Amino acid sequence: MKNMGEPRIKILAMPKDTNPAGNIFGGWIMSQIDIAGALAARDANVHRVVTVAVNGMEFHEPIFVGDTVSYYAKVVKIGKTSIKTVVEVTAERIFEGTKRCVHVTSAIITYVAVNAEGKKQKIECCKKHKLALGITDD
Ligand SMILES: CC(C)(COP(=O)(O)OP(=O)(O)OC[C@H]1O[C@@H](n2cnc3c(N)ncnc32)[C@H](O)[C@@H]1OP(=O)(O)O)[C@@H](O)C(=O)NCCC(=O)NCCS
Repeated sequence: MKNMGEPRIKILAMPKDTNPAGNIFGGWIMSQIDIAGALAARDANVHRVVTVAVNGMEFHEPIFVGDTVSYYAKVVKIGKTSIKTVVEVTAERIFEGTKRCVHVTSAIITYVAVNAEGKKQKIECCKKHKLALGITDD
């Protein structure tokens, strides 16, 4: 996936992850999207984050049992206490003898850095570090 680096999570879709229609359950995918985004948020040098917002999410393609599902995530904005991330999901499968990779969904997830009591905490992230993450809108 262009400009997204290595996947934060790469996992095989298993029969236990299906919905009654036999496709992979959306909640399973959403849970991993949240984890992938939280892992990316840690790039902002924060230890503990909570999810504060998830944008409207649209599934463009189903995921099937046996697909290799990749979750790419990166930080796009760092605020005073919040970290905005983009997560992209792809599924790879063999279709008629050829390897095929489909874009399943995208999400924008915002996390808030919190302390051990769950209270929001200021993020200490210098301009140089933000630039290293590819964030230029500061
Ligand atoms: C996240 C939480 C600590 C925020 O506390 P708060 O005092 O209400 O914080 P604020 O309203 O000042 O918002 C904090 C930051 O989040 C951002 N934010 C809040 N709501 C947002 C939303 N809907 N979309 C995007 N960003 C949002 C604010 O802009 C602010 O960013 P900044 O500090 O970088 O400018 C608190 O709401 C909370 O604990 N929520 C539950 C989190 C949780 O349990 N998540 C898992 C759900 S199962």
